[in-house]
Parts: sequence; structure tokens; C-alpha cells
Amino acid sequence: MKTKQEKLRRSGARIMASLILLLGNLAGIMVLAVFNGTLGFICAMAVPLLGAVGVAKALGEAIPLSFGAIMVLAVGCGVLRGILRYLEQYSNHYIAFRLLAVLRSKIFGALRILCPAKLETKQKGSIIAMITSDIETLEVFYAHTISPICIAGILSAGVVLFVSWVASPWLGLTALGGFVTVGILLPLAFSRRIKEAGVNYRRQFASFNSYFLDSIKGIRDILLHNGGEKREHQVEVRSGILLEETRKMKQEMARASAGTELWVSLFILLTLGAGIFLVLNQSITPGRMIIGVAAVFGSFGPVLAISALPGNLTQTFAAGDRVLDLLKEKPAVTPVLNGVPADSSRLDVEDLSFSYDGVHPILQEISLSVSKGEIVGIVGESGCGKSTLLKLLLRFWEKEKGKILYSGSDIDTINTQSLLEQVTMVSQTTYLFDQTIEENLKIAKPSATREELENACRMASVDEFIKSLPQGYQTRVGAMGENLSAGEKQRIGLARAFLRGSGLILLDEPTSNVDSINEGIILKALKKQKGERGIILVSHRESTMAIADRVYRIKEGKICARH
Ligand SMILES: Nc1ncnc2c1ncn2[C@@H]1O[C@H](COP(=O)(O)OP(=O)(O)OP(=O)(O)O)[C@@H](O)[C@H]1O
Ligand SMILES: [Mg+2]
Repeated sequence: MKTKQEKLRRSGARIMASLILLLGNLAGIMVLAVFNGTLGFICAMAVPLLGAVGVAKALGEAIPLSFGAIMVLAVGCGVLRGILRYLEQYSNHYIAFRLLAVLRSKIFGALRILCPAKLETKQKGSIIAMITSDIETLEVFYAHTISPICIAGILSAGVVLFVSWVASPWLGLTALGGFVTVGILLPLAFSRRIKEAGVNYRRQFASFNSYFLDSIKGIRDILLHNGGEKREHQVEVRSGILLEETRKMKQEMARASAGTELWVSLFILLTLGAGIFLVLNQSITPGRMIIGVAAVFGSFGPVLAISALPGNLTQTFAAGDRVLDLLKEKPAVTPVLNGVPADSSRLDVEDLSFSYDGVHPILQEISLSVSKGEIVGIVGESGCGKSTLLKLLLRFWEKEKGKILYSGSDIDTINTQSLLEQVTMVSQTTYLFDQTIEENLKIAKPSATREELENACRMASVDEFIKSLPQGYQTRVGAMGENLSAGEKQRIGLARAFLRGSGLILLDEPTSNVDSINEGIILKALKKQKGERGIILVSHRESTMAIADRVYRIKEGKICARH
């Protein structure tokens, strides 16, 4: 993970190519942006150039335009420049923001497929950084990178040809040297250091984000352990490091831009010197020299725009690299789309083995079965793999060896959607969204009627509690469900599962946070439910196991007893 962040995994060119490929049918608008931008720059260059033409005419050069016409043209070009620039920027930003929306939805799509297995191991902070700032950074690429590069290429070639034709090929050659130096050589020379600084900055930024978010989420535990000052100090230290990285990056960028400006001035001087030399040599007339030199003076804008890119681009590449990485990441399991529908009336697990890393076995040769109408208990020490087993039954991870059969069909051949409909899990921690309780429940069944909601809540022994709240089912759950007790949250999770009405319910410690009276109510409800479905009950408590028809005991990854 760390090495991944330390350097880009793809080369800049590959990232750029992949990002351009994402343009798809917006490429036409990009061509329009380049066209308008090029015309706009030509108009911008034409203003001083027409001035030079005026001076050349005054010096006796044969110019087939009156002074009045030159003035009108100059003013016209000035106005047109504004309009064209607006059109260029409009097209660029139209493309950029359309693409950002597409990319965001692609990222959400990727997260949806990676979820839940791969997301367990990802830092939430870096995902948030990706959806927000990484994507924003890509705006720079689409709105401010592709078209400037094209415009600079077209215009520089145009100016070299124009100057060679109007004044002298020598002046054209000097201009070419200037463009290549400023637009290609200098950015290349500066890019390595700026790139390094940019990648370091992004890494610190992501790490700071993660740490800060983590601290906010765990603020209660920090305060309880009197660790506030230490954390605050750490945040300050990390923010200092981030500031230092920002400073380094800005310094590199400032150094590069100062160096570039210096070279532009040098080349302008060189062109002027060459022009004067050519006039003294009587190779060209002063009027043509003035026009040629003025054209070169005004033509560094597009290449300067490119030379300003590396600083932005390295960040863009780092962001693009991470976004492309996520889009390419293989999920732990691929969803089954064209399989058979799930039938959860009977589940048989035979010789199931699994490890997360392929080295340390978590489960070994587990065999068990559950039929409709049965409650099966699973007990075992913390960390023995009980939750892992339940996740395997939902195919969050792919099993390594053995079989998981739903009414005879192997789990790998069953449609994922259908499996999730037929099998519901209540995990150890229920996440409640910052919405009303009703909305939180309806996640399990959006079409549920009020009666169904209340029924499910009654079974989970939470109906009375919800009704005692001033706004009842319309009460908003605070962010992260902080306003509810652990037991209340757990019971709402249970109600969700009952509401869903699946054929098999997997309960991971469903009563660990409720008192014995409520446990009794929940267990009674479970027992009532079992006529219609199968239930797997994971628990530490012997009292919970009292309602189970069969209990499997897991020890060191193996089933060691069945009673
Ligand atoms: N995503 C993961 N990647 C790697 N290892 C994991 C992952 N999830 C869990 N583990 C490890 O697998 C082992 C079994 O974990 P599991 O959560 O299944 O235990 P458990 O029996 O449910 O424990 P508890 O009773 O405390 O809930 C543990 O050692 C745990 O650290
Ligand atoms: Mg567990």
C-alpha cells in the first residue's frame, strides 16, 4: 500500500492517454475548444503585430492597408479575442465538469463492486479524498491542459512559418529555439523535482486527511483515555509536515516559473539582437524586422501556458493514477449475473476452508447445515472466524476449498442479487444513516407499509422505544447514529432484517448489547419466525443458544463439537 503511494505506478504519458480516452464523445467539443483557443491567441497576437505593421508602414514599407484600417483591425481583434477566449473556456469547462460527473459515478460504481470485502481494508479518509479533491484535480487536466498543449503546438508552428516568411528564416529559427526551450526542454528539466514535491504533497495530504477523520470519529475514545493533548499535538505535527511539503512544492514551482521567465526574456533579446544584426547586414528592411520581432514578442503566451503545467500536472497525474487504480482494482469477488436464483430453504456447508491472505487459515473444513424452520447456533472464541463464516455464506469473499450449497446449487453459481435477497445478515455493528428511523428501516424494503414497519420493530423489541420518541418513526438519527444506544441500534438492525423477509437470516451477536429482558423478547420473536425461515445465530452467550436446535462450536478454525 505504501509503495503504491510513494511513486506513480503509471508513466505520465500513460495516465494522460487513459484520461484522454475517457473523453469519449466529448472529443468533438475539445476540438472546438482548441479551434476557438487558437483563433483567440491569433487575435491576441495580432493586436501588437498590427501596431508593428503600422510602424513599418510609417517607415516606408509597402503595406496595402490604410492607417485607419489597421486601427479598426486592431480593435476588432481585441474584441474578438475576448469572445473567442470565452468560447474556449466555456467548452473546456463544459467538458471538464461533464467528465467529473461521469468519473464520480464511475468511482461510486467501482466502490459498489469492491464493497464490502475490499472496502474493509481501505482507509475511509483516502476514499473521501479521492471523491472530493482527486476528482477536482482532474478538472485541471480536462479544462486547462489538453487544449493549451494543442494550441501551443499549432500556434508556435504558425509563428515560426509567419516570421520566416515575413522577416527572415533566421528569426524564425530563433523563435523555434525559444518555443522548444520554453515549452518542452524547461518543463522537462524542472518536472522531476516538481513531480517529486507534488507526489510528496499529495501523500501527506491524503495521510493527514485520514488521520484527522480518524481522530474526529474516535474523539470520544480519545477523550476517555485522556489522549486529547497527545492527539492534538500529533495533528499539529502532521499539519506542520503538510505545510512544509506545501512550501517545498510551491518553492519548486516558483523556481521553475522564475527560470522560465528568464529564458523567455533571453530569447526575446536574442531575437531582437538577431533582427538588428540582419538589418545592419541589410538582409531585411527595418519594417520587416519590426513586424517579425513583434510577432515573436507576442507569441510566448501559449508555450508559457504549457510551462506552467508541470506543477499542476504532477498533482493531476498522482490523482489520475489513484482514480485509475481504483477503477481498475479487481474486487474480491465478481458479482454473478447470469446464474441461478437462490433458494435458501436449505443450506449445506461441506469441508469449507478459507484464509484472507492465502497463508494463515481462518476456517478449516467446516461442515454444517441449516434448513427452513431451524435455528442453528455457532459459538466460539473471539477471532475464531465466526463473522468470517457468515461473510462467506453471503459470498463477500470467495471460498477457498469446500462447498457452500443453497438447496444443492453452489454459491458461486447463484445470482448475487438473488442471494442478497434470500439471505440477510445483521452484522455486529449496524450503521444508521443520518435520516429518519423510518427511512433507515425502509432500506431493507423501500415499499414497506407502516404496518409492516411496526410489525418488524415489534419483533425486534424496538417498537415501543421508537414510539416513545417525540417524533416516533420520523425521529432523525444523528450522524453515525450517535443519538441511539448500542442496543437500540442493534434492535433497529434486527428489525431491518425481519422487514426484509429473507428465507435465511444470519445474525452476528444479535443480543450482545441488550439486557436479558429484551434478549428474551428478541429470542421469542426469533423462535416465532423460524417456521418461515432458517436462522443462523452467532453468539457468545449460552442463554442465547438455548433457542437453537443445533449448536456448532468453532475452535481454531475447526468445528470441534456439535450438540
Ligand atoms: N478483512 C480481513 N482481512 C484480513 N484478516 C481479517 C479480515 N477480517 C477479519 N480478519 C481476521 O480473521 C480472523 C477471524 O475474524 P472474525 O471477525 O471472523 O472473528 P469472530 O469469530 O467473528 O470474532 P468476534 O467474536 O470477536 O466477532 C481474525 O483473526 C481477524 O483478525
Ligand atoms: Mg465477529
